[in-house]
Amino acid sequence: MLWPALVTFVHVLGGGVWIGAVGFNVFVLHPRAKKFFAEPGRFEDFVLAVVNGMRWWVIAGIVALGGAGLELLRVRALELDAVLLAKIALLALNIALFWVLSWRMWPARAVAAAPELESLRRRFSRVGTTMVLCNVANVALGVWHHVAR
Ligand code: HEM
Repeated sequence: MLWPALVTFVHVLGGGVWIGAVGFNVFVLHPRAKKFFAEPGRFEDFVLAVVNGMRWWVIAGIVALGGAGLELLRVRALELDAVLLAKIALLALNIALFWVLSWRMWPARAVAAAPELESLRRRFSRVGTTMVLCNVANVALGVWHHVAR
């Protein structure tokens, strides 16, 4: 009883925190910091300083969330059906997008010349929005699977 509850707690909390963190970054922090800092370089320095060192916390969160998902499969003795496979595929897509964002797009922004920045930021925002949508879909599929069972 306690273990399944703890596993569900970690799984749901991990998903919620991930949605909140990426959503806040893309929809609140970026647009507001952009308005606040008139100089493009200062805006870039600020957002990079805010997210610096977060990569490994996100990875730890993904491991906990995915691990708890697999453990939920086990403790609830579920078969891997189409909905659960779709959840795994969505998480795999989000891990790939996170890799692109963290290892490719942030370093590119840090060294970009001023004329390149705007298109890099737009791409960044598109990737972040896709991640939020995949995670919201993952929550919806999880809740639906639970209720429909
Ligand atoms: C490896 C990837 C994942 C696996 C294997 C997985 C597995 C599961 C399983 C087995 C359930 C329980 C379904 C049921 O009781 O019928 C579940 C529920 C759920 N999942 Fe996932 N999941 C994964 C990724 C995610 C992600 C990335 C999120 C959110 C961003 C998420 C959010 C949820 C939510 C909110 C529930 C409903 C909790 C409940 O009612 O028990 N899952 N997931």
